Amino acid sequence: LENPAADPFEIAAQAAADIARLTGVDHHDIALTLGSGWGKAADLIGETVATIPATEVTGFSRPALAGHVGTIRSVRTPDGKNVLVIGARTHYYENHGVRRVVHSVRTAAATGAKIMVLTNGAGGIKETWNPGQPVLISDHLNLTADSPLEGATFIDLTDLYSARLRAIARTVDPSLDEGVYTQFRGPHYETPAEVQMAKTIGGHIVGMSTALEAIAAREAGMEVLGLSLITNLAAGIQQTPLSHEEVIEAGKTAEPIISALLAKIIEAL
Ligand code: 6GU
Repeated sequence: LENPAADPFEIAAQAAADIARLTGVDHHDIALTLGSGWGKAADLIGETVATIPATEVTGFSRPALAGHVGTIRSVRTPDGKNVLVIGARTHYYENHGVRRVVHSVRTAAATGAKIMVLTNGAGGIKETWNPGQPVLISDHLNLTADSPLEGATFIDLTDLYSARLRAIARTVDPSLDEGVYTQFRGPHYETPAEVQMAKTIGGHIVGMSTALEAIAAREAGMEVLGLSLITNLAAGIQQTPLSHEEVIEAGKTAEPIISALLAKIIEAL
């Protein structure tokens, strides 16, 4: 993927072939990327048919943290849908390039997935939101100044976060609020001034993933559903300093509830 002359879709096709060989499942209907706090959902969706280390799949980069091997799972829902559960996300701030960031999404498309569910843990800008609350992503602001698209690929991003899929999610939980996800490069959290900027230009959620992946998913012809777990309020919105530990802790606390919600949403898709 680092070689500019290589075709990233060719590499994604190879990765999909690896997944078919290693899982014994030749086709997936839905793909799900697990962000922080969403990890338990895979267990509730259905029966895990196979779990494989991401490092055995073409194009997936080594995990950022030693001993923290990302896995890819094939899960079969009670009604017979094959769900590709991706527990290995490459973040833009890891500096492996945007091709690596979106490789899992292109791989998911190459396995046949028509729906891409992207989840993350993120900061909230709306004062009415509480840590531990899941929200739907209605649209995004991509502040990375980058794109996964190469060359003159002028794709439409109206309804990028499918209104149809959001409506389905709301049949499961009518109380789900929604907001505009703002992708910053990270890995530092935003300053209070940057959070005010995001708010002024229409953002409600701040994070370090998802927007670039959503663009790649749309390019690949998939329908996108985005869900953020609000792990904390953003800098300056909450009066206490932010910490990674707080984010992880909020994720752990919310995990059983949001994972059950996600499993019900997958069932309804
Ligand atoms: Cl406040 N900002 C960003 N960019 N990512 C986050 C976050 C904030 N809280 C959790 N993840």
